Amino acid sequence: MRHSKKGMVIVAIATTIGTLISCGKELNEIRIVPSDKAALGREIFFDTNLSNPVGQSCSSCHSPETGFSDPLHRIVSEGAVKGLFSNRNAPSIGYSMFSFPLQMDPADSSYSGGFFFDGRANSLQDQAKLPFFNKLEMNNTDAASFIEKAKKASWFPLLTKAYGEFQEPEKIITTIADAISVFERSATLNQFSSKFDAHLKGNVTLTDEEKLGMRLFIDSSKGNCAACHSIEPDAISGKVLFTDFTYDNIGVPKNPANPFYTIPSIFNPDRDAFIDFGLSTTVKKEMYKGQFKVPSLRNVAVSAPYFHNGYFQTLEDVVHFYNKRDVENFPKPEIEATVNHREMGNLKLTPQEEKAIVVFLKTLTDGYK
Ligand code: HEC
Ligand code: HEC
Repeated sequence: MRHSKKGMVIVAIATTIGTLISCGKELNEIRIVPSDKAALGREIFFDTNLSNPVGQSCSSCHSPETGFSDPLHRIVSEGAVKGLFSNRNAPSIGYSMFSFPLQMDPADSSYSGGFFFDGRANSLQDQAKLPFFNKLEMNNTDAASFIEKAKKASWFPLLTKAYGEFQEPEKIITTIADAISVFERSATLNQFSSKFDAHLKGNVTLTDEEKLGMRLFIDSSKGNCAACHSIEPDAISGKVLFTDFTYDNIGVPKNPANPFYTIPSIFNPDRDAFIDFGLSTTVKKEMYKGQFKVPSLRNVAVSAPYFHNGYFQTLEDVVHFYNKRDVENFPKPEIEATVNHREMGNLKLTPQEEKAIVVFLKTLTDGYK
C-alpha cells in the first residue's frame, strides 16, 4: 500500500502540474494515440519469425483474448525452445504503460513502479528488448542474427521510415523496442471498455451483487483490496488502474507444479529448491524479499492462473486465500519473514461476500457491450 502521506504529496504535485500544463486526464489522452509507430509495433509484437527457432512472438505469451497474458492459461509459458520454461506466470500486460521507473519513497523505504514482477526494467522500451534474447523465451543468441531476421520482415521498411536508417545493431534494436512500446501505449492495450468503465460513465447500472462486491473491495474493514489495487483515479493519469504500483509479499506459497523446477540445471541450478525472491533480487536488500509488484486487476477474469507463479487457478480461490490465509491450512508462504499480515489473511468475509468480490472483479473485463 502507498504511504498515505506520499499519496497526498503526489496528488498535490499532480494538481500543480495539472494547472500548469493541462488536467491529468488530457495529459493521458495525449499519451494514448493511434500512430504509424503503433501499427508498426503491432506487426512486430505479433511477428513469429523473430524467435530462435522461429514460431514464437510476444503475443505467444501476451495474447489479446486473455488480457494480453498467456493464451493457453499456462502456469508459466514455454519458451521458443521446447521444454524450457521461465519461473514466472506471463502477466496481463494491458495497462502496463501506466507504470513508471522504479523508485523508493524515502518516507517509508517502500518501492513503487518498474516493469516485471520485480521491477528490474525501468521502461517499456527497456523491457521490450529483453524477451528477444532471453534463452527461456525467444532465445536469440546475438544481435546480428536477430537483426538479420528483422531485416527480412515485411515491416522492416516501415521501421526505417519511422526512425531512420541505422547500421549499429544496438540502435536498430532500440527502434524495434520503441515501436513495440508505442503499440503498448495504444488504445488496443488500454481500452477502458469494461462494464466497470461503463458504470463510471453512467452508461450502465451495476447489479446489486456487483455493487456489494465493489463496496467490500473498497471497505478497509472488509476486503480492503483497494488499499493496493487502487480504485481512485491515478494521480498522474487520472485513470482507475486497480494498482498503486507498489510491492508487497502477500504470502503466496511455492507452486510445486511450476515446470521451471524441472528444466536443465544450467538454467536453474537450484532445481526444486529454487526460491523466487522478487523485488530483493533487483534492489539487493533483504527486507524486500518476497515482494512482488501489485498488478492491475483489469481483465483479471480472463487471465488465469493468478500470482507470479500461477499458484491459483480461479478468482474464487484467490479471494478465499486473502480472506482465510492466516486461519486455514494453506501451505506456508514461499518467504515468510516479510508477509503482510496487517492488510489481509483474516478478513472475516462470509462466503456470500467472497462471491460478491469475485462478481465485481468480473466487471473489469474489456469489451463490455
Ligand atoms: C515465453 C513467454 C513470453 C514471451 C515470448 C514474452 N513475454 Fe513478456 N513476460 C513474460 C513473463 C513470464 C513476464 C513476467 C516476468 C517477470 O516478471 O520476471 C513478462 C513480462 C512482460 C512485461 C512486464 C509487464 C509489467 O506490468 O511489469 C511486458 C511489458 C512484456 N512482458 C512485454 C513483452 C514483449 C514486448 C514481448 C516480445 C518482445 C514479450 N513480452 C515476450 C512472458 C513472455
Ligand atoms: C497489501 C497489498 C494488497 C492488497 C490489500 C490486496 N492485494 Fe491483490 N495483489 C497484491 C500483490 C503484491 C499481488 C501480486 C502477488 C504475486 O504475484 O505474488 C496481488 C495479486 C492479486 C491478484 C492476481 C492478479 C494476477 O493477474 O495474477 C488478484 C486477483 C488480486 N490480487 C485480488 C485482490 C483482492 C480481491 C483483494 C482484496 C480481497 C486484494 N487483491 C488485496 C497486493 C495486494
